[in-house]
Amino acid sequence: MNEREQQVIQNTEKFVHRQLVSEGSGHDWWHIQRVVNNARQIADTVDIDKWIVEMAALLHDLIDDKVTHDVTGSRQDLMKWLEDQRVSEQQIDHIFAIIDTISFKHGYKTLLSREAEVVQDADRLDAIGAIGIARSFTYAGSKGHLIHHPEESPRDNMTEDEYRYETNTAINHFYEKLLTLKEQMNTAEGYRMAEKRHQFMETYLEQFYAEWDGKS
Ligand code: ADP
Ligand code: NI
Repeated sequence: MNEREQQVIQNTEKFVHRQLVSEGSGHDWWHIQRVVNNARQIADTVDIDKWIVEMAALLHDLIDDKVTHDVTGSRQDLMKWLEDQRVSEQQIDHIFAIIDTISFKHGYKTLLSREAEVVQDADRLDAIGAIGIARSFTYAGSKGHLIHHPEESPRDNMTEDEYRYETNTAINHFYEKLLTLKEQMNTAEGYRMAEKRHQFMETYLEQFYAEWDGKS
């Protein structure tokens, strides 16, 4: 990375921090920082454009309908801001292609680049393990969902709207999403990291059910 590229990363950190510092849906600045850290860890194991990875990791949640009410407006603002930073058109296209394709709710869309694969793994890693558990309960709390209901089963094959808007329990979310992520990792390093976090969730669930039944 040259000096100018490093400068753009620093400017982007400030730009994203400003917008997400008080975000309350689990996509706050610290989520972005963790995704950047995960992405760096994975990017060090593969031969790819690390600058694109870092920029896309920083910007990946900024124009999502979860964090903005005006997706089109936010998109234009981001485009303009990147142009002002003198990021090339080709790089801007690549960054947007990554942001547009990595979200879980968009399902199994083909990713366009190896950089996209790394950013997607990095984002998914932050949904599992100890952090993933914390985020899942925070999300459930913010929506007024129960932590668990023994008679409500996890759902299969949800539509995007069902995933996003229907009530479920925090524990069901483990089965509907969190425990499926390990097998969807794109990179070897992402998979290695996911295995440990996955195992931690399995252990957590065992203990959870034991305590639920007063057996532990
Ligand atoms: P993404 O677009 O990255 O999948 P989401 O908005 O779906 O992000 O999720 C943000 C965080 O909240 C993630 O950690 C996710 O696992 C958690 N989450 C999303 N939906 C639910 C839910 N219905 N119950 C509990 N946690 C959820
Ligand atoms: Ni994210």
